[in-house]
Parts: sequence; C-alpha cells; structure tokens
Amino acid sequence: MEARGIHHVGIAVEDLDEALGTYERLLGGRLEHRERVDDQGVEAASVRIGESRVELLAALGDDTPVGRFLARRGPGVHHIAYEVADVRAAIAELAAAGAELVDAEPRRGMFGLEVAFVHPESVHGVLSEVVSGG
Ligand code: CO
Repeated sequence: MEARGIHHVGIAVEDLDEALGTYERLLGGRLEHRERVDDQGVEAASVRIGESRVELLAALGDDTPVGRFLARRGPGVHHIAYEVADVRAAIAELAAAGAELVDAEPRRGMFGLEVAFVHPESVHGVLSEVVSGG
C-alpha cells in the first residue's frame, strides 16, 4: 500500500471551541468543517493549516471512544490519517501485509470521507487511519 501523504492529524481536545481558538490564534488555522456525530459520541472540527490539516476531536460524553481516550491519556495526538486513492483496496493490501485492522470494511467518516482505522499495535503505537474523498 502506498499512501499519498498525511491527510490530517487527529487531536483529542477537552473543549472544541477553545482548541479551535488556539489553532487559529497560534498557528493561523482556518476552520474547514465542523460536525457533531452523536452515534460516535464526538464533535469534530477540521482545521486547515497551510496545505496541511488537523482534526480536533471533542468527546460528547465520558463513555465514548474519545472520552475514554481523554480519561486514559489526556488531550493530545489521537491518530494520524493517510490519504489513499481507494480505502477498500488499501484495507486489502494492509491485511495482506499482516496489519491488524480496526475496520474490515470502509466506513463513512466525518466530513463525508471514506475511512478505515488500523490498530496501533500494527503501526508502532499510533492509531492510523486511511482516508479518501477529501
Ligand atoms: Co481522522
């Protein structure tokens, strides 16, 4: 599998508005999309920084994936997303290469993207995402 580059870095935050303000003020970030996904327990903001992007992730409750991450690790880098041409093909190639997948099938991520996650144990401790469509 050959990724095209880093699509975004996902960052878990305690307060989405405050974090957005920080990225705008300190780094010149520009809000690209903002979306609340109740069934995933997350509110996210996609922020452009030059040609790059961060995805700020705030939990809607303690018993959600991001809520549990914040309780365990505190705020900080949550995942790195790699842009690929085709998520389904990337999943097949990753599986064939022995990577442990969180998602065996592509699923609809935030902001209309197609995504799949790779288990951190397969990528030296970093939860990794493959993404296309953005
Ligand atoms: Co992401």
